[in-house]
Amino acid sequence: MPQGKRTKFSPAMFTACVLAFQSVSYNVLLFCKNNPGCETMALLNSDSGYGTLTKFLHWSIVILFAMQYIGGHIMTTIGFNSSFAGIVTNDYYDWHKSLGLLALLFAVVRIINRQMGNLPPWAATLSDTEKKFIHRVEQVFYFAMFVMPVSGWLYVMWGNYGVNLFGAWEMPRPLPKDNGLRDIAKWAHIGAGWCLLVAILGHVGLVLRHQIFKKDGLLNRML
Ligand code: HEM
Ligand code: HEM
Repeated sequence: MPQGKRTKFSPAMFTACVLAFQSVSYNVLLFCKNNPGCETMALLNSDSGYGTLTKFLHWSIVILFAMQYIGGHIMTTIGFNSSFAGIVTNDYYDWHKSLGLLALLFAVVRIINRQMGNLPPWAATLSDTEKKFIHRVEQVFYFAMFVMPVSGWLYVMWGNYGVNLFGAWEMPRPLPKDNGLRDIAKWAHIGAGWCLLVAILGHVGLVLRHQIFKKDGLLNRML
């Protein structure tokens, strides 16, 4: 096919896809909230447990965050003009930025989803201190789901590095280059990444302690 006739993934198409995705998910959630038939599908959270959508979003974000930590570590360790496992540094950066922005999209849907249903009651085996701990950690998670991608995006905007979204679209750079702000955003990104990692370790530690030692099946609440 001649170059000029190829279908390109344009900014307008991308924006349309994002808006369509947001609008469809919001309307599905709204429909289910107002439609008793949906309760049996257990799409949303309810008094009887976490909904399918929460579980899907939870494990999607776990996978995305794991990829971000592994990829982020590899790309900053191997340095520029290098490669690891057959993937060059630039591609690691492009995928890191693209998946990070995808995680932001998931985070928005997750917030909407959490507002729509009723949160299930606490697991009966949790102590009061554990409930307080979980509550704080969840606040850190929801904060981090936005701070991580936004600080990363600000870093590459103020650094004028740009974002090539999934190799398909060079995103606009609306912010002027500013080395001072770039460095603040970079350290916010790295610092928040470490805080998030501590929260993840605490969260996973608590779940596994219950699952393995107390044998109360806490993990099953999210499966
Ligand atoms: C869920 C979202 C994200 C997570 C969990 C995440 C996590 C990380 C981690 C763990 C590192 C390695 C830090 C280090 O040890 O030096 C890193 C580096 C980096 N991230 Fe992200 N990131 C996310 C989103 C983004 C986004 C959306 C962008 C840009 C659009 C971005 C741009 C960068 C850049 C450029 C670096 C390299 C920093 C350096 O030069 O040291 N990140 N990120
Ligand atoms: C990136 C890592 C993770 C993040 C950001 C995260 C976030 C969350 C959040 C925010 C909740 C509350 C429910 C909601 O609003 O969605 C939750 C619940 C839960 N998570 Fe994770 N999680 C992570 C990793 C894991 C892992 C690796 C496991 C398994 C070992 C796990 C097991 C659970 C379980 C069992 C619950 C339900 C707890 C309850 O009974 O209320 N999470 N997680």
